[in-house]
Amino acid sequence: MGGGGGATDGRMRRRLVVVSNRGPIVYARTDEGRTARRGGGGLVTALSGLVPAHDVTWIAAAISDEDRVVAQEQAGAVDEADRLGHRFRLRLVAVERAEYDRYYNVFANPHLWFIQHGLWNHPYTPELNAGIVGAWHSYRHVNERIADAVAEEAEAVGAEAVLVQDYQLYLVPRLLRDRGVAAPVNHFTHIPWPGPDAWRSARREAREAILVGLLGANVVGFHTRRSARNFLSACEDYISGAHVDYRHAEVEYDGRTTRVRAYPISVDPLEFDALADDSRVHEAAETLLEVEPERLILRVDRTDPSKNIVRGFTAFGRFLDQHPEWHGRVVMLALLDPSRQEIPEYAEYLGAVHRAARAVNDAHARDDWNPIDLRVSDNFPRAVAAYKRYDVLLVNAIVDGMNLIAKEAPLVNERDGVVILSENAGAHEELGRHALTVNPFDVEETAAAIETALVMPEVDRVARAAGIRDHVRAHDVREWIANQLADLERRGVGAR
Ligand code: G6P
Repeated sequence: MGGGGGATDGRMRRRLVVVSNRGPIVYARTDEGRTARRGGGGLVTALSGLVPAHDVTWIAAAISDEDRVVAQEQAGAVDEADRLGHRFRLRLVAVERAEYDRYYNVFANPHLWFIQHGLWNHPYTPELNAGIVGAWHSYRHVNERIADAVAEEAEAVGAEAVLVQDYQLYLVPRLLRDRGVAAPVNHFTHIPWPGPDAWRSARREAREAILVGLLGANVVGFHTRRSARNFLSACEDYISGAHVDYRHAEVEYDGRTTRVRAYPISVDPLEFDALADDSRVHEAAETLLEVEPERLILRVDRTDPSKNIVRGFTAFGRFLDQHPEWHGRVVMLALLDPSRQEIPEYAEYLGAVHRAARAVNDAHARDDWNPIDLRVSDNFPRAVAAYKRYDVLLVNAIVDGMNLIAKEAPLVNERDGVVILSENAGAHEELGRHALTVNPFDVEETAAAIETALVMPEVDRVARAAGIRDHVRAHDVREWIANQLADLERRGVGAR
């Protein structure tokens, strides 16, 4: 990269290889034949911004049955197009089902996810037993198969940079070096990187391999400075032979230098401007609420234990206990996208979410009023309709890499709604000063924040809402991408 030189801000058209577990397209088989649905989620959406501006080859795991068929039919990558017709190459990597299951449903989730979000219950879990050992082998194997495909494609297209995504693929950067890939490699972790002690609940072999895997990259990226710092400390604590330079945020290991950086991910404000006016969103708005409450509190989340949905409901219940004057006037709408339901911990958590909502409703509901309106389904137009309508947005994650809801909802909100934001959401580093900060474990504080938000004078609400909108418009997803590409272009460090 940089041979032809000139651009240092990533604006030049590049041959890029993007690698993620979940790809930008999910294939399905219907009566009419094969269909291709755009993959969802912030990660895929953010990276899709690369497609119009660069020559992108995207490598992802085959997840659906039809993905596997596509993977088998193709020797290499297929030509695909994004929503607006921009072409890219897609290569799906199929591994044996049981192996994928152990990699995704045991090792990546819940094992790594729970370590990195502090969700294990340490007196009992995790137990590093034969199941985890087997799942670790599968994790390694899937990373190897994906690295094989990346090495092939990088060679075939003459890749100028490889952008590897997230915790499912920690081993890939080092595996690419072992396979002789010379292009600069960036690894980006979209979830929090906890303090070094959290990694003591991973097997020694696994945590060392994960760190060494990442140190194969030229640049390791996180959403927050805190995660970047924690990564440096983990290298110092667990990798003998690693030299950690905190001042320059660099790690020297095995003859190469890895830079450690924070790049806060963001959204595309223009996309949300368009969505706010989309006919599907207008339709969803018409049926959003059976009865219009005076005030609407909204939460939008995947049903993930890290999102802290149960404590959010409990806090709302506490608020209702303390403030009978609000009974009948305020509703909490929870739009929850069912997630990872094949994993017992996730299925059980969804049960707990239903029970917590029921407990609040049983204690407070009247014939004409149900305080918590819980909907479990994947319905993005409805979420955007609710974004426009909230008075209070509750984002109380136990800990979160970034949390894009906190960035996208205020962009389209029409009521100068107040954001209650967990101090442990990555978004808090940027938006905290415009939000009401809560400690996510503290249900008393969260109940008090709900009251503060509901009675906040208009002038304060307007200023805070504008503060968030202005920040997100000034720091959009293009900046996230451009900063990473610009850093990769600074050759010399870590290059072979
Ligand atoms: C988070 C992770 C992504 C993941 C997404 C959805 O945002 O950082 O890597 O794709 O959740 O989770 P799923 O397991 O359904 O891909």
